[in-house]
Amino acid sequence: MLSWFAFVLPLVFFIALWAFKPLLRAADIRTFLNPPDLSLPSLLLSRAQPNERLVHAFGLTSTFVSNDPKIHRAFTTRAKALIAGAGSDRWRGVASSAEVAVHHLLPVQRTTEFATFVQCITLAVVLCTLFDTDLDALQYDDLVYVTNVINQRWKDSKIKDAAAMRQDDSLSKITVHIDKWIMDRRQHPNPLNFILPAYETMWRVVAVTVAYIYRHCDNTLHDVAITFASDPTEAHFQAFGDNGLQPSMQAIVLEVLRLHPPTRHIARAPVASGSSWWHTLVGPAVERADIEAVHLSDAYGENPSAFEPMRFHPTRVPVGGRAELYAFGYGRLRCVAAAWAPMAAAVIAAKVVAQIKDAGCVVTVGDKIGGRSGWDGWTIGKGTE
Ligand code: HEM
Repeated sequence: MLSWFAFVLPLVFFIALWAFKPLLRAADIRTFLNPPDLSLPSLLLSRAQPNERLVHAFGLTSTFVSNDPKIHRAFTTRAKALIAGAGSDRWRGVASSAEVAVHHLLPVQRTTEFATFVQCITLAVVLCTLFDTDLDALQYDDLVYVTNVINQRWKDSKIKDAAAMRQDDSLSKITVHIDKWIMDRRQHPNPLNFILPAYETMWRVVAVTVAYIYRHCDNTLHDVAITFASDPTEAHFQAFGDNGLQPSMQAIVLEVLRLHPPTRHIARAPVASGSSWWHTLVGPAVERADIEAVHLSDAYGENPSAFEPMRFHPTRVPVGGRAELYAFGYGRLRCVAAAWAPMAAAVIAAKVVAQIKDAGCVVTVGDKIGGRSGWDGWTIGKGTE
């Protein structure tokens, strides 16, 4: 008996090690996120299961928590329509919402936490551009409350069960505010379905972009942002300035998405036709694609852990071609806003930087660049001059 165990246990151990090796290579991530043999309903199910916590945390009913291809089709079609906005004028719309929002909310009297400020600005812009919310309807304190609750419930959903989430009535409290901001229930029966994927990812890209601009040792990135803020067009977004010596705003945001992908891990539950017998036997309930780790490979050029937007310059393509980014996922469930979000985040970040300068405010830089949390020491306040 003992010798049988001595043989079988190491075997199971090695099979498990082989089967559940971390998904660190881009090729593994592509197969994991877009398995060729899996039907759409199964693929949706494999995403919906790990996302179930979002049903309890936010009452989501979208494709993120459903295996129904009809819901997937309707939801992605609607999301594309929302971000398409007013045709060719859409960037002017984002830019003017960002400008007015920063103007309204910039803390000229008091010192404010940097992350809180960026959260409020980003939520305001998401509401105005995707839902036509009137900026005058948005009170700073209400935005602070709603963004705090979203942040807290997101974190809680990872450690608390459904019953504990239900006991906390903060979801119904933020719904009261959201109902005032988005009144058309026929068009938007559950606005959090769209607010969440848009706001929750975007605010962190905006915050990290602004943070790098202020942390940079000279004014280069600051100058790029100020110039872009005055002319936020797609052509300008892509243009490398100073005869190709200055990064484009696009390169800055891509570098932010590479080093700080808001979705660091993308989870899937093994589902029937995609799982083998050892998955069923000893497999984890959920597997994760480690996007953050893949982005640190030297397929992205030299010194991959350094923030270096110039790596996206067309003359700096690494041998073997430029590796693609996985910040928006991959394959059939890839983000519908992958083309829109980098430019939108750049516009918001640039408007924040430009108006901080115009209003004579100062950003106090913290020790570390944060994520959903970890912004200790970062503040925005009135300058002394
Ligand atoms: C920088 C900002 C954003 C990032 C990093 C991001 C990231 C992602 C990722 C990683 C996925 C794939 C999830 C998976 O495979 O399970 C995804 C899907 C999706 N995202 Fe985004 N997202 C961003 C902004 C947005 C915005 C602004 C919207 C607009 C409403 C949006 C709507 C969606 C939708 C609808 C899907 C599901 C696509 C599908 O199921 O076919 N995202 N996003």
